[in-house]
Amino acid sequence: MPIRKSRLFRCAATAVAALVLASCGPSQPPLEQGSLYGADIGGAFELVDTAGNTVRWSDFDGKWRMVYFGYAYCPDVCPFDVQRMIQGYNAFAAQNPALAEDLVPIFITVDPERDTPEVVGRFVENFSDKLVGLTGTQEQVDTAADAFAVYRVKGEVTEEGGYLMDHSNIGYLMGPDGEPVALLPVDTSGEAVAKELATWVR
Ligand code: NI
Repeated sequence: MPIRKSRLFRCAATAVAALVLASCGPSQPPLEQGSLYGADIGGAFELVDTAGNTVRWSDFDGKWRMVYFGYAYCPDVCPFDVQRMIQGYNAFAAQNPALAEDLVPIFITVDPERDTPEVVGRFVENFSDKLVGLTGTQEQVDTAADAFAVYRVKGEVTEEGGYLMDHSNIGYLMGPDGEPVALLPVDTSGEAVAKELATWVR
């Protein structure tokens, strides 16, 4: 298990280098206790970022990932969930700047029909320049959403052409090997998200 070994080494090295890194100690529960540990969630996808570049799940190897599926035109739930996700990320990063360098918040649309790279770019800009926004073709997005067991259904189209997307709003914390670790309480508060990050990210 060379990957696990190197992570342990990094943890030990960091602890020696900075005594303040309290979160890198035995107080953290083993990852096996995470609410998503061992779940059949996540996996290979190929999407498009806000600059139009192809992004693969494997591009994030070595990084912890906060993943949320939503859509830019969502009138209420998504913006608040993403706001709490980023508040949590920011609070965690302020306390653990070194660990935060290997933590990436990711927003993936469930509405590629309207969420072009440009639209997703404007959406994620509202929250943080650290937030990676991803879209793609319908097929690419379906592959990604299915990999994360994300429920999404397009609502009735209004006369004006608008519609809602009914979708699951779940924050996933995934580990540096792309493995599921824990649910992030993005529906609760930024503090709760930060606390969850501090429990697992190491
Ligand atoms: Ni939404």
